[in-house]
Amino acid sequence: MSGHGTPIPMISRKCGPLNGVANVPGDKSISHRSLILGALSVGKTEITGLLLGEDVLDTAKAMRAFGATVVDHGEGNWSVEGVGVGGFKEPENVIDCGNSGTGVRLIMGCMATSPITATFTGDASLNSRPMGRVTDPLMLFGAKSYGRQGGRLPLTIVGAENPVPVTYKTPVPSAQVKSAVLLAGLNAPGKTVVIEQEATRDHTERMLQGFGAELTVEETDEGRVITLTGQPELKAQTIIVPRDPSSAAFPVCAAIITEGSDVLVPNIGLNDTRAGLFTTLREMGADLEYENLREEGGEPVADLRAKYSPNLKGIEVPPARAASMIDEYPVLSVVAAFAAGDTVMKGVKELRVKESDRIDAMAKGLRAAGVTVDEGDDWWIVKGQGFGNVKGGATVESRLDHRIAMSFMVMGMATNEPMRVDDGSPIATSFPIFEPLMAELGAAITREA
Ligand code: S3P
Repeated sequence: MSGHGTPIPMISRKCGPLNGVANVPGDKSISHRSLILGALSVGKTEITGLLLGEDVLDTAKAMRAFGATVVDHGEGNWSVEGVGVGGFKEPENVIDCGNSGTGVRLIMGCMATSPITATFTGDASLNSRPMGRVTDPLMLFGAKSYGRQGGRLPLTIVGAENPVPVTYKTPVPSAQVKSAVLLAGLNAPGKTVVIEQEATRDHTERMLQGFGAELTVEETDEGRVITLTGQPELKAQTIIVPRDPSSAAFPVCAAIITEGSDVLVPNIGLNDTRAGLFTTLREMGADLEYENLREEGGEPVADLRAKYSPNLKGIEVPPARAASMIDEYPVLSVVAAFAAGDTVMKGVKELRVKESDRIDAMAKGLRAAGVTVDEGDDWWIVKGQGFGNVKGGATVESRLDHRIAMSFMVMGMATNEPMRVDDGSPIATSFPIFEPLMAELGAAITREA
């Protein structure tokens, strides 16, 4: 699959204990939403701790194209002067969202109820992902969508001239779909309602409330019912972006499988809709402590201390937990390879439509490294080999997927032979400091000439 630049082959070798403090970057989901909601507000939103990953930088560019003034003040400090709900101008050129499903789906949502037209594209990974899940509900608001077969990018949205509010039951557990509908609902008169059967990450709801929208959430027999009153005036905010639990997953899992390790990962949000991996690791017997557990901005936050955990056992991950750890299954499957017994992961069909088909990408790489993996459409099982028994010695395709590349680099820290990925460049989409941060802890990850 072709990417944006020259591929960066990378190799990870067995290393000594990992030690020290891992300050992971800002949360990707919250970074996108800070820029987007800032752009839809009146006044100047100030953001600190913004993730400087390519995905988020593409969203910043897009917000400028729709008329917001987005300024990088250095070191993760940004400001956004918004145009207000309904104030987007028509972009002069195609909006390129790079690798980011979150970026493109949320932005399509927030322009679809304005009388403007925009064309979206991305890299080879993004252009192969399903967009009908977002364009279908956007058409209910009165927007039109013209895409490639299967509703894929490049795709043009003609925004609704006279949008109507919508009640929509999400057919897949997806925070991106939910968010696209809510953002479209901002510029529709009346109440837009989203019903989701399984709770997915709730940053859009929390942040919309923070920016002053009238939004309620009710738990009912049908699921979570989110009701947004359209056409609010969103007011600029000051946002401190918390560190990303999905990025924390990599140093945490690396410490758990690397002999003698003791790593502290400070300031990680443990919002229920994001923290499923950490619960799962603890159930597997990992030595993972929540230190200094506290509340910040209404959300639980802790410093994670992860230590080498030689007695890991495979477990069945409850399917109801899937949405809260959907991005963490790749690295979990790596930890599972070193556990005793099977790790069973069910109800995870969504993994097949991420930046890559993550079940297929991980299964192929794990098998090449000597691990047995069984799989079906929406489940997979990793047969744990126990510490010291995982061969490694494979070169794996990262398929333009940052989490596949980072997972196999973590794996190489504990396999008997090194692990390679054909291209580590996608890591820059979400975790641009992955290599120096891991090196500082003691990992032996290098670029191959
Ligand atoms: C995200 C939602 C999830 C997740 C993605 C970020 C978000 O995608 O995989 O990395 O910020 O809303 P889905 O909504 O497709 O599950």
